[in-house]
Amino acid sequence: MTTSSHPNRFFLTTPIYYVNARPHLGHAYSTIVCDAIALRKRALGIDTWFLTGTDEHGQKIERSAEKAGCQPQDFADALSAEFRGLWRQLGISNDDYIRTTEERHKRGLQKLFVALRDRGYIYKGYYTGQYCVSDELYVDGAPGAICPDCGRVTETVSEENYFFKLSAFERKLLEFYEAHPDFMGPESTRREVISFVRGGLKDLSVSRTSFSWGVPVPGDEKHVIYVWLDALANYMTALGYGSDDPEDQARFEKFWPADLHLIGKEISRFHCVYWPAFLMAAGLPLPRRVRANGWLLFDQGKMSKSRGNIVRAETVHTVLGSDALRYFLLREIPFGQDGNFSFDALVQRYNADLANGYGNLVSRVVNMVHKYFGGAMPEAGAETPAETALRASAEKAIADFGPAFDELNFSEALKSVWSLVAEADGYLTANAPWKKPAERSEAEQTKLQARVLATAAEAIRIVTALAYPIVPEAAAKVWRQLGQGEIAEAAKLGFLSNLAWGGLKAGTKFGEPAPLFPRAEKDTAERMQKIEEENSKSAIEAAAKQSAASATPAAAQPEKPAAAVVAEQPKTASSPTITIDDFAKVDLRVAQILVAERIPKADKLLRLEVDLGYEKRQILAGIAQYYEPEKLIGRKIVIVANLAPRKMRGFESNGMLLAASLEGGSPALAGFLEEVPLGARLK
Ligand code: MSP
Repeated sequence: MTTSSHPNRFFLTTPIYYVNARPHLGHAYSTIVCDAIALRKRALGIDTWFLTGTDEHGQKIERSAEKAGCQPQDFADALSAEFRGLWRQLGISNDDYIRTTEERHKRGLQKLFVALRDRGYIYKGYYTGQYCVSDELYVDGAPGAICPDCGRVTETVSEENYFFKLSAFERKLLEFYEAHPDFMGPESTRREVISFVRGGLKDLSVSRTSFSWGVPVPGDEKHVIYVWLDALANYMTALGYGSDDPEDQARFEKFWPADLHLIGKEISRFHCVYWPAFLMAAGLPLPRRVRANGWLLFDQGKMSKSRGNIVRAETVHTVLGSDALRYFLLREIPFGQDGNFSFDALVQRYNADLANGYGNLVSRVVNMVHKYFGGAMPEAGAETPAETALRASAEKAIADFGPAFDELNFSEALKSVWSLVAEADGYLTANAPWKKPAERSEAEQTKLQARVLATAAEAIRIVTALAYPIVPEAAAKVWRQLGQGEIAEAAKLGFLSNLAWGGLKAGTKFGEPAPLFPRAEKDTAERMQKIEEENSKSAIEAAAKQSAASATPAAAQPEKPAAAVVAEQPKTASSPTITIDDFAKVDLRVAQILVAERIPKADKLLRLEVDLGYEKRQILAGIAQYYEPEKLIGRKIVIVANLAPRKMRGFESNGMLLAASLEGGSPALAGFLEEVPLGARLK
């Protein structure tokens, strides 16, 4: 089903990102990893196609757009532009960018759906069960069940759907994994996926009828295709699957199947179970490798919008440059594991490895070549044991780097190169070409300087060539300083495929020295932290402004928990009058508390999961001092349902409960004496 890797072409993909929120460092991580791989493959002379894009359909996006008060297409256009803008800013070298709202994608996806149907793998049925909108995932369980992936309350879906015969692929998938041990990784992902399939596969609903933001099922337009089938198909539709244009068809023929799908570990089931099953059913070749990266953590948790603990790549880019970010992420986090991000650790690595390490080495050597040899590469002459040792280290770095990098052990690969940086540094210090002992003649001194500087410069060339995919901007500068011209041109000619010691020829005219990585000052981490704080403050203000437009009093003080705000309202009826239209903007609804629990380290806050009848959601309320959480379960309350989401203690609050403020006492929750249906509007 898969073929062994084609030696001279390589197709790799990032996940396509949901456009429900602006990109953060977690997204940048996957894209940067892929970009580094793409740069190396191209520089090895391999015909490479690097794809990224955005996942723009589905209920999650439709709801996010609704909350923002705009059409899904406008919403997707704006956020997709943010992703593309960020990739441009970071210098990402993707060959294509697919949006699932593009015609070429819709056409290809419909063709895939028809292929599955024509081959007998799709049938019509009725789905009643749980669905997690945040993960766009069908979940086994009773109404009110919690999503096993994200912990949010699932919603009950009851609708006519098309089903895919996933159950027919249980054995075939297990056989496939057995025959292709390299298909998925790391080992933890492989084990998890195999045990999921061994646990039994049920047929999968692959269409929805209760909303319309998606690609219609051909011939039955009231159904839209399930967003994960839609999203996964991007990997083929971007290449040209489904197109009549011969050029597209040729690209598809050339690059499909993918050599590498790089994904986050939380989406391995979709890529390692559903995707190969869809492809087997359609009679198409399967991807060769799927590799899952771990999560980038910040403040102890997965960096994500809903936790409110994000760092933006732009911040690091503005202060230290994109090479610093790339180097840090690939050096610091063993690929496949979760890794902590912190500004302090970033600055420390930056100074140690880039400013004082590589940058300083280059600057010393290039400056001395200018000073002592008029900027022309000197003749190294015969090796002494010191040069032989440095050459051996460089050859070891060349030998170790490739296999480690190709196995995605970026951290190990970089260690091998940076140990060459350290050796070259030590070699330079030990031989001190800038010092002239009294007993050394002029001629001897020049000979030593030539030998040492030429050898150190050659070591720098090797370091630069190997490190190019990780720090491409710095590598381009060094390449010029070494008189080697444009590294991007060298990469096009596949210069990494024959990298060997001795490429820097005597007489080569060096370029002007230029700073690479200026040392980061003491307050750099703090500065970045501040930029982030300012940024999240303005995001909160924007949210507050947006909800102020809907005249909810608490919105002006977004950092305060909802009920606490109500309890602090003035005690006399002195509020300005509003019109009925103003009031109509506030969507007050009856909800029932399903879950109530304390939030660690927050004495005032309770986390509630409430059922509105038409959906379930999480809200935070500042009533922990007044109510035992267990006593609240089952209670019917009133909430402001259209309050803009706010983050508190890393949790998102989607609404506000109403309570009467009682002087000196606990707030009393609004409720009803009569039986009222969930979701009923108060007006
Ligand atoms: N749209 C789906 C993917 C469809 S692929 C056919 C999706 N989108 S996502 O925007 O939620 O996440 C996309 C990817 O972003 C994740 O798989 C992961 O690679 C990356 N990350 C998002 N947050 C992350 C971290 N905090 N850490 C590391 N990667 C993270 O899932």
